[in-house]
Amino acid sequence: MEALQIIGGNRLAGSVRVTGAKNSVLKLMAAALLAPGRTTLTEVPGILDVEIMGELLRRLGCAVELDLGHGRVSIDVPESLEHRADYDLVRRMRASITVLGPLLARCGVVDVALPGGDNIGSRGLDMHVSGLQRMGAEVTIEHGYLIASAPEGLHGASVWLDFPSVGATETILMAAVTAAGRTVIDNAAREPEIVDICQMLIDMGAHIDGAGTSTLEVEGVPSLRPVQHATVPDRIVTGTWAVAAAITGGDITIENARPEHLQIALDKLSTAGADVTEIDDGLHVRMDRRPAAVDIVTLPYPGFPTDLQPQFIALNAVAQGTALVTENLFEARFRFVHELVRLGADVQTEGHHALVRGRDQLSGAPVEATDIRAGAGLVLAGLVAEGVTSVHEVHHIDRGYAGFVDDLVRLGAQISRVPIPG
Ligand code: EPU
Repeated sequence: MEALQIIGGNRLAGSVRVTGAKNSVLKLMAAALLAPGRTTLTEVPGILDVEIMGELLRRLGCAVELDLGHGRVSIDVPESLEHRADYDLVRRMRASITVLGPLLARCGVVDVALPGGDNIGSRGLDMHVSGLQRMGAEVTIEHGYLIASAPEGLHGASVWLDFPSVGATETILMAAVTAAGRTVIDNAAREPEIVDICQMLIDMGAHIDGAGTSTLEVEGVPSLRPVQHATVPDRIVTGTWAVAAAITGGDITIENARPEHLQIALDKLSTAGADVTEIDDGLHVRMDRRPAAVDIVTLPYPGFPTDLQPQFIALNAVAQGTALVTENLFEARFRFVHELVRLGADVQTEGHHALVRGRDQLSGAPVEATDIRAGAGLVLAGLVAEGVTSVHEVHHIDRGYAGFVDDLVRLGAQISRVPIPG
């Protein structure tokens, strides 16, 4: 067991390179299941979740080579796949549910353990299920498993999502690419990670129109071919570095970043007083004053991302003024606020609103990461807190941030992994 120990007060400066997005690569790995043969992914982040997804694919019958040092994963997909995703892996990583669509398409049947709730909310699957049912699948829940079958194959359908769910859009999309006929997904998610999956599926031979819009039109094809694909850069890691520059009064060049994927968040940083400049292949963020408080409302893309909400609460916690933060995606994402309060932050939550009154100074303390982004938010707060902050439950951070501590050290932070006594 380890914790991250931070001695606050250093200004971060220098360059950091962002690699591929966690929330894309896990789905790209699942999409590989759709085509027998070898698919190779590059720009793969060296994170725990990629290892868990690799293990899941192995259990389904694939040979998986992880070369995370070079950001590469090769997946050899057999003609005949297993079709069961067990609870021991699904409970470790909810994104395991992404194999639902591809396995149903390939095997005509799939059993995936129900992920249950997690630290950021209940996270239902109703839209995944109703979409697959519209495409001809029978779905039941037995002994904690979601079992879907379509012995006669899936057929195209019109699917209207109640909410532009990222996961449901992906499940239906991956089921639709080899279904018979035309599927139209309305109110589809528009995240850059959805566009990335569409791009890979199109390269595999799928017919998809409307990637990046609210209407995805898919004309099913009989089969797909394996490909090589580079993962889209991680906009949430990019945003985390941008806030790191702003909160520490720093100066960071973020390479391999796509500023166009986080316009609202960058605009908020400018409002907070940061100097944000787009450069070739990335961006540059510099701050030379105390940040001003900025209100945030999380929404599906292109709205402000929920995955940057904790980092912006940390920024507001030391800003000049008071900010109202509204969380519209995950009901329990304010849980980490109790930890931030242990660092001296003044945050009051009421339903899906948090009122953050900026303090002149936070003070270091032991705190616990409750999820990946909460962990990132607490590390950012620790960077500016006076004294020592230790962030426990580091495994959450390892799920989403590759080489985080090394990068922070190179940028000038005093941070290290320390064993927890006992
Ligand atoms: N929802 C339902 N029913 C469904 C599907 C979703 O009620 O059938 C609800 C969820 O409970 C949630 C909301 O809709 O309240 C949004 O869920 P969505 O399906 O859009 O999110 P997700 O696919 O579960 C992905 C990311 C999250 C990210 C969200 C929103 C992955 C593996 N996860 O989750 O990332 O916050 O989209 O952008 O792609 C993270 O990286 O820290 C993280 C939580």
